[in-house]
Amino acid sequence: MRIGILGTGAMAAALGGAWVRAGHEVLVGGRDPEAAKRLAVAIGASGGDGLGGAASFGEAVLVAVPAGAAVPVVAPLAGDLAGRTLLDCTVPMAPGAAGPGLTTEGTADSVAARLAVAAPTARVAKVFGICHESIWTLPRPAFEGGAPLGVPYCVDDPVAGALVADLVTSMDCVPVHCGGLDRAGLLEATAVFAIGVWWSGGEARHVFPSPALAPGAMDDQAATRPGPAPDRT
Ligand SMILES: NC(=O)c1ccc[n+]([C@@H]2O[C@H](COP(=O)([O-])OP(=O)(O)OC[C@H]3O[C@@H](n4cnc5c(N)ncnc54)[C@H](OP(=O)(O)O)[C@@H]3O)[C@@H](O)[C@H]2O)c1
Repeated sequence: MRIGILGTGAMAAALGGAWVRAGHEVLVGGRDPEAAKRLAVAIGASGGDGLGGAASFGEAVLVAVPAGAAVPVVAPLAGDLAGRTLLDCTVPMAPGAAGPGLTTEGTADSVAARLAVAAPTARVAKVFGICHESIWTLPRPAFEGGAPLGVPYCVDDPVAGALVADLVTSMDCVPVHCGGLDRAGLLEATAVFAIGVWWSGGEARHVFPSPALAPGAMDDQAATRPGPAPDRT
């Protein structure tokens, strides 16, 4: 798969490196083409391009800039992004006295939804924003017992959904479809919540144990869950 990256920071390096290792063709683009070239050399990608070069490179384009810069960066590239899958990993985190909050709080729209408005012919997916960048530097992200990392994503477009699932699978991880872009704000909030847990000394992965660990609990849940089981493909 050909993947362009907008940004030259920590997430660009970590995800770009993981994609190169997985055999994808990656091109790094940044507002500083020299920084893009340096990162490309470091991770074995091509680079030295401006943002436009990365936006028009492949079938997927990662937005790896601060959440507040995402729309200003993407809007001028909307024409280049037509038909491509826009991978939005941004986390709109705001400092707060009681722990981190959302910069989008009090508004209806997630960053992903705003990107879909800014680039209406791109296929926007919210993905890769939950884990710390360091996780993507592992040869094979896995938990205790060897279970592969689940990667949640929200997307409306079926072509983008299939691309994200393929990309995540190529990284030896498990794609977890969590619904359409109208649920992307939940992923953004979950990332901020997890960061708050870590900052308070907790361990986020221990906050979400599977009910399957309690014998019989899944049967009870299935009996009481309203409506059909959610689509997990
Ligand atoms: N780090 C993590 O563990 C992590 C995990 C999940 C999600 N995320 C999300 O991933 C995104 C990137 O995070 P990061 O840690 O990679 O950040 P970072 O290391 O600070 O890198 C940010 C990149 O964005 C570029 N940038 C900033 N403002 C820009 C603008 N106005 N126009 C063009 N480029 C701009 C920077 O360019 P310059 O170098 O020229 O300033 C830099 O290349 C953020 O939205 C963050 O919330 C991060």
